[in-house]
Amino acid sequence: MNNPLDSAEFSRDPYPLLAALRARGPVQRVRTDKGRTTWVVTGWAEARAALADARLSKDTARYFADRPGNRRLAPAVSRTMLATDPPDHGRLRRLAMKAFTPAAVARLEPRIRAIAEELADALGARGSADLVGEFAEPLPITVISELLGVPEPDRAAVRRWSRDLFAAAAPDTVDRASHALSDYMTRLIAARRETLGADVLSGLIAARDEADRLSEAELVSLAVLLVVAGHETTTHLIGNGMVALLRDDALRTRLRADPGLLPAAVEEFLRYDSPITLATFRFATEPFDLGGARISAGEVVLVSPGAANRDPARFVAPDEVRLDRHRRTERTEPAEAWEATEAWDAPAPPDRPRCPRSAEGIPGPGRPGGHLSFGHGPHHCLGAPLARVEARIAFEVLLTRFPGIRPAVDSWDALEWRHTRLMHGPAGLPVVL
Ligand code: HEM
Repeated sequence: MNNPLDSAEFSRDPYPLLAALRARGPVQRVRTDKGRTTWVVTGWAEARAALADARLSKDTARYFADRPGNRRLAPAVSRTMLATDPPDHGRLRRLAMKAFTPAAVARLEPRIRAIAEELADALGARGSADLVGEFAEPLPITVISELLGVPEPDRAAVRRWSRDLFAAAAPDTVDRASHALSDYMTRLIAARRETLGADVLSGLIAARDEADRLSEAELVSLAVLLVVAGHETTTHLIGNGMVALLRDDALRTRLRADPGLLPAAVEEFLRYDSPITLATFRFATEPFDLGGARISAGEVVLVSPGAANRDPARFVAPDEVRLDRHRRTERTEPAEAWEATEAWDAPAPPDRPRCPRSAEGIPGPGRPGGHLSFGHGPHHCLGAPLARVEARIAFEVLLTRFPGIRPAVDSWDALEWRHTRLMHGPAGLPVVL
């Protein structure tokens, strides 16, 4: 039987299948089409625990060392911080983190808004548009390209390569894209060395902190990762959020009337329809028990943010969009279980009063949130503050500029969805403005 996780139906609506898996237990063994088995973690508590468990490694090079011939990805693509375990991981992450703190991202806000407004100008001139191709895709790629100093004429190629890396494309296409992107970033970094600019890459090249200094190869890996990790994911956050908004007139009206609710809406869209649905990859370095399952050393464990985010054991009415989740007490764990990976990421204990929003518009620790769309633990998404701000501005600009926006599809079933196993998002979103 074909693997249902590879089906077009799963790409369109992954939640029934994920719910069915979760109903059998929070950690389930699934057979892949290559005849192997893999564990899928669908329960929220188990997923959160797995994401922070040191017995689960992200070192793909180590995993594939015993399985030659799997991929010929460029090393810069396969050996990023995302595929490195502590303690090395911390060194790779620390320097880059400085560019993506909520405060650093807040300084980018005027430019992000200007890019969003320019894209909206072009849409508005036409009266109808594909919101994915003409807004949700170009916004994040333009922002990250400007941050890294990728010149305008090169951006289409960078966008294509990074997209090919995630597409359900032939292995050769994926391998070629990985080398093209890696070669491009090598050349860009060499050019930046000649003339340092005000961009993030120049900052990383110039960093003189001996302990954390990155080698040339590490710098190339980081540049590749920043482009790849922050592009398609943010596109899908905007795309999925707009689908939810277009399906709900009352929600659009409410957000237009009170833009202060937008940060809560971004969190809820992240939870309700996570851009990374099925998998964040890990493998077990030793045998251990998780959610009633016995995992053996060497086995692959896919932690599914999409499934965890709709776990009824954690979220009340998980299949509904509810903006007031951050005010209500969800089904919670004891307060001591809320250890923080990053201060602002930690959901608050249920009895803590709501705090005002931070300067970056991120709701304070009164937000239980608790979705796992940005992961959790040491690999918690580095670009989360940037993605949050981009999405908030995107929804605000679209709702304000186009109060009469409506879908231009006959039925929601007719909408095409990207066919990748990892992610969930519309391939296009036709609208009348
Ligand atoms: C890591 C999701 C946007 C850069 C991650 C992880 C997730 C994630 C789930 C952890 C993976 C794991 O533990 O296996 C998302 C989503 C985004 C988004 C849903 C948008 C809505 C961004 C942006 C950037 C970025 C805009 C950068 C510009 C990274 C990096 C890592 C990461 C560098 C690796 C962190 C590490 O290994 O320590 N992201 N991401 N992401 N993300 Fe994001």
